[in-house]
Order: sequence, then structure tokens, then C-alpha cells
Amino acid sequence: MDEITRAKIEEWFRYADDLGLSPFFHDRAGAGAPLVAEILIAEAVEIPVPTPPPMPKIKLDAQKLSLDTTSQRAPSLAGAPGISLPIGSGPSLFDAADKIEGDTLERIREDLGECTRCRLHERRHKIVFGTGNPAAKLVFVGEGPGADEDAQGLPFVGRAGKLLNQMIEAMGLKREDVYICNVVKCRPPENRAPEKDEVATCSPYLMRQIDAIRPQVIVCLGSVAAQTMLSTNQGISRFRGQWLEFRGTRLLATYHPAYLLRNPAAKPEVWKDLQKVMAVLGLEPKKPASPR
Ligand code: URA
Repeated sequence: MDEITRAKIEEWFRYADDLGLSPFFHDRAGAGAPLVAEILIAEAVEIPVPTPPPMPKIKLDAQKLSLDTTSQRAPSLAGAPGISLPIGSGPSLFDAADKIEGDTLERIREDLGECTRCRLHERRHKIVFGTGNPAAKLVFVGEGPGADEDAQGLPFVGRAGKLLNQMIEAMGLKREDVYICNVVKCRPPENRAPEKDEVATCSPYLMRQIDAIRPQVIVCLGSVAAQTMLSTNQGISRFRGQWLEFRGTRLLATYHPAYLLRNPAAKPEVWKDLQKVMAVLGLEPKKPASPR
């Protein structure tokens, strides 16, 4: 298995994940996506561009989609791999009761320290804690640092970050106005998706960041952020663009900018999602520069 084929396979799985197709692979393979990956690797097949299966039409009920903030803390994300739970029906990973009074971003960063709590520390160069306005009305949550972020210690500074900057500016904001962070603070090797135990170890710091900032709106970029915040393993396409709630704060999930780089046709959908956020925050879209 050469590096290029492996990278293609991994890219393909991330693409499928962005589309919310992971459960599809789990169902088909029985033993889950890793097995499918192994089969693909063993056969070194050409990777087709997947056609998403038709999504069943579901009627979304805002009540059911809101988070359960009263249930017991769960040790890991709700549900076995490939088993879809209605959002908010499983145990919540984080309880409102866990809020630390008077917590600040500085304290959270100090508590994180030179973290070695999970295996991601072994190959990271820099911890990517988060950046932006500590009193931001809007927080963007991504998945985890990539190579550029790992080198600079800042979130979303690579290609996906440039697109995120454009999205923020199109909303009539500047990058410094918002807060940007990730579910995991250290780069997963080869940009793989973070494992459940890595997410479970790291995401309490994300929750503390959100509690400290107390934004009006949280935008989850991509399925890892959305599934973590909502304690669900449902594919993002089930609830993208819907107003949901995280412990009393409005939350909306949209596609990850990296997905948009591969699928520019999805940009109008994301723009519609961002316009919903703008309406809540009372933002006007950036005016095009007047011709000279
Ligand atoms: N993708 C993410 O999810 N986060 C980053 O910081 C960069 C790319």
C-alpha cells in the first residue's frame, strides 16, 4: 500500500464522514468503517467518488433535537458505532452542572498545560488552544488542527482557514470578532479524524471555553464538532442548518470549510446557514467594495 493510495482512502473516508455516510459503511461492513478501509487497502482499489444514498425524509422536531442537559455524564459519546440515536436522546457528555463559576480562557489554558492526557500529544508540535475575542457573540468549533495549525499553534490558518476567514468576512465580521477553536487541541496524525477516546479526553476543555465565552451562537463546522457538541452519532446532513441548542445556547451545524474546498457546490447551502446566524446576531452582510 503506497502512501498516495492510503491518503486517497483516508480522504475518501473523511469525505464520506462529512456527508454523514459513516453509518452506511458500518451497516454494510458489519464490523465498521475500519474494516472497509482494510479491505480497500488490501485490494488497493481505485477510489470512486461516492454517490450518497437517498436520505430518508425525516421530520425534525426542535424539542427532540435539543440537548438533554439533565442526564448523567457519559464516559464517551452516546451510542455504539453505526447506531444512530435521535439527537439529545442519549446521555449528555457534558452537564450544565459541570460549569466552573468564573472560569476564564487563561485558566483553562493553564489547566491544559503541556497536555499529555491522550496519545495525540506524542506527534504534535504545538497545542492549538483557540483564538479570538474572549467575549465573542459567535464561536466556531472545528474538528482538530491540521499541519499548518500544528506548526503555528493557531486554529484554521491553512487552506480551510482562509475559506473560514472569507465566510466570517462575508458575514460582516472580522476574524478577531469571533472565537475559533476545535474539539481536539492536538493534530491527529495524517489528519485522521480524532478517535472517540481522544474526543472524550479533550472536549471538556472545549466545553469550558464555551462556558467561559458565553456566546450567543455556536457554529459547529463539520460532523466531528456537531456530533461532539450534540452527543450524537447521526450524520450532519440530518440536522445541518437547523437551530439546535447546547445548554441554553443556540447551536447550528454546517459543513466544514475543508468539505467546501472539495465540494464548492455546497457553498450556497452553507451561506444560507450563515445567514440564519447573521439574522440572530443582527449582522448585515459585507458590502462589496465600491468601484473606483
Ligand atoms: N480543520 C479544523 O477542523 N480545524 C482547524 O483548526 C483547521 C482545519
